[in-house]
Amino acid sequence: MDLDALFGGLRRFPDVEAENLQAHDATDRLLLETAARYVLSPEIRVAVIGDRYGALTLGALAALGVEHVRVTQDLYVSSLALQRNAAASGLSGRFEEFELGAGLLDGAELVIMQLPKALAELEEIADAVARFAAPGAVVLAGGRVKHMSLGMNAVLERSFESVQPQLAQRKSRVLIAREPKRPATAAPFPVSERNTELGMTVCAHGAVFSGTKLDIGTRFLLGFLDKIPDAHHAVDLGCGTGILATMYARDRPNARVTATDQSAAAVASTKATAAANGLVDRVTVVQDDAMSAFEPGSADLILLNPPFHLGASVHAGAATKMFEAAARVLASAGELWTVYNSHLQYRSALERLIGPTTEIGRNPKFTVTRSVKR
Ligand SMILES: C[S@@+](CC[C@H](N)C(=O)[O-])C[C@H]1O[C@@H](n2cnc3c(N)ncnc32)[C@H](O)[C@@H]1O
Repeated sequence: MDLDALFGGLRRFPDVEAENLQAHDATDRLLLETAARYVLSPEIRVAVIGDRYGALTLGALAALGVEHVRVTQDLYVSSLALQRNAAASGLSGRFEEFELGAGLLDGAELVIMQLPKALAELEEIADAVARFAAPGAVVLAGGRVKHMSLGMNAVLERSFESVQPQLAQRKSRVLIAREPKRPATAAPFPVSERNTELGMTVCAHGAVFSGTKLDIGTRFLLGFLDKIPDAHHAVDLGCGTGILATMYARDRPNARVTATDQSAAAVASTKATAAANGLVDRVTVVQDDAMSAFEPGSADLILLNPPFHLGASVHAGAATKMFEAAARVLASAGELWTVYNSHLQYRSALERLIGPTTEIGRNPKFTVTRSVKR
């Protein structure tokens, strides 16, 4: 199958779909065109990192003739989209999904990746590739030129002897990294840091929101911890490193606590944070998109510091999706406690989607509200 035919059939579903949103971009195409030079045999061991909806994995299988691909994706919807796109193009069973690590990268000869936004995430990826890939591995790391920085080259240069930026094409560029420097020390991620203010240890993988630092909105919400009700089942929705879940579980020894996030890095970070604070048995961690697999009415408390970015643009849709999810999963009279930038004026959406909403606190930047499910 040629690339145009494959790309023409790709969908973003179950992620947001719209006329102006595509399931592939010019970077996917440039990466695959560049990769074609290195695929000299169908048996080549290929690892794909950061595939959004399957364009890279399925492109390597269908258009480059690679027999089998190992892939990792951070977002839950990305993995679902890949599976659906694979089924639709008859390519199911030709790839395996892994977390970032030895399973994904052991002996990999060609690594094809979309550059992540955060340098810490790139650092974690580069370290893993240098640690596990074959000594002669070639890494093709692509991005949109406007999102790339020299800092990315510097991060790659710490893990590879050679990093060569290629000419930009169609506003995308590929960096080719070779000669991995096998690290002599233990893997640096997840990093962990003692937060003396909270009296807890925070663990973070490279891709997670705020790293090991306490977000100032989260800090403001935690200032009201003693006012948050006792719950049978509390959910930390969009848990990041799991600070809210950990603090609540520690404060309320009788509550069952579930932490959930769409990001594999967040889920792994929260598990590490719970373990570092002796709470493995108290905090269940689940990767999901906006609690899609949670039973309706199954929680009596949800804690939320909602996301406000959708891709590169600031967008209220991501928060609204979380409020809708909370409305479905809260039992009657259950409570959603949320913190947001005061200028965002989420109050009317909370009233409409959840129920009566009270302002619990406000400072020059943030507002904390309690919404009671009607
Ligand atoms: C502002 S961060 C808050 C993280 C953490 N609760 C804290 O207070 O530090 C929002 C989190 O929501 C997650 N998120 C965004 N959209 C989501 C969705 N549809 N389903 C689940 N989690 C989502 C992000 O991955 C991110 O970790």
